[in-house]
Amino acid sequence: MTANRQRLFFALWPDDETRDALARLARAHLPAGSGRLVPAENLHVTLVFLGAVDSGVRACAERAASALSAPAFTLEFVRIGYWPRPRVLWSAPERTPAALAELASTLTAALVECGHRPESRPFRAHITVARKVRKAPRASLHDAVHWRVDAFHLIASETRPEGARYRRLRSWPLQ
Ligand code: 2AM
Repeated sequence: MTANRQRLFFALWPDDETRDALARLARAHLPAGSGRLVPAENLHVTLVFLGAVDSGVRACAERAASALSAPAFTLEFVRIGYWPRPRVLWSAPERTPAALAELASTLTAALVECGHRPESRPFRAHITVARKVRKAPRASLHDAVHWRVDAFHLIASETRPEGARYRRLRSWPLQ
């Protein structure tokens, strides 16, 4: 990666209480002897993953986010699940609220103008709570965690020997 390129993504970042509740449920549901919990401070919902981009694309992405006006919404995390291919344990709302689907799609469409190539698979709101997981959890539901989402953020991802480190570069409020 050249010096002025950064690995970026847009995300929702939980407040401390929500983060702690999610970290607790991840500990409770990770099958014994399988996988690695995502550190509590790294828990998030990815809105749009940009990948490694240069400073021009970053500036364009920030302009796109600034031009957006979207409402706040509440997420109710209640479902716990496992995707065997990426081998992740995740928590998710039963359904993606319309306001969140709209935020993700409007942002994605605006980012196309910055050269972003959107993923073909549909957006599914989730928080990856553990990685390198080898078996599904026993439960499919967990105690509900309510999260009032009133902002979204541009995040830089840095890979360190000890794992991913995420840095919040800029935030935008939701009305
Ligand atoms: P995940 O939680 O489902 O693994 C930072 O890497 C974030 O961007 C992660 O939350 C990851 O989602 C998401 N992401 C989406 N597409 C990605 C990709 N192609 N490579 C790495 N991370 C990706």
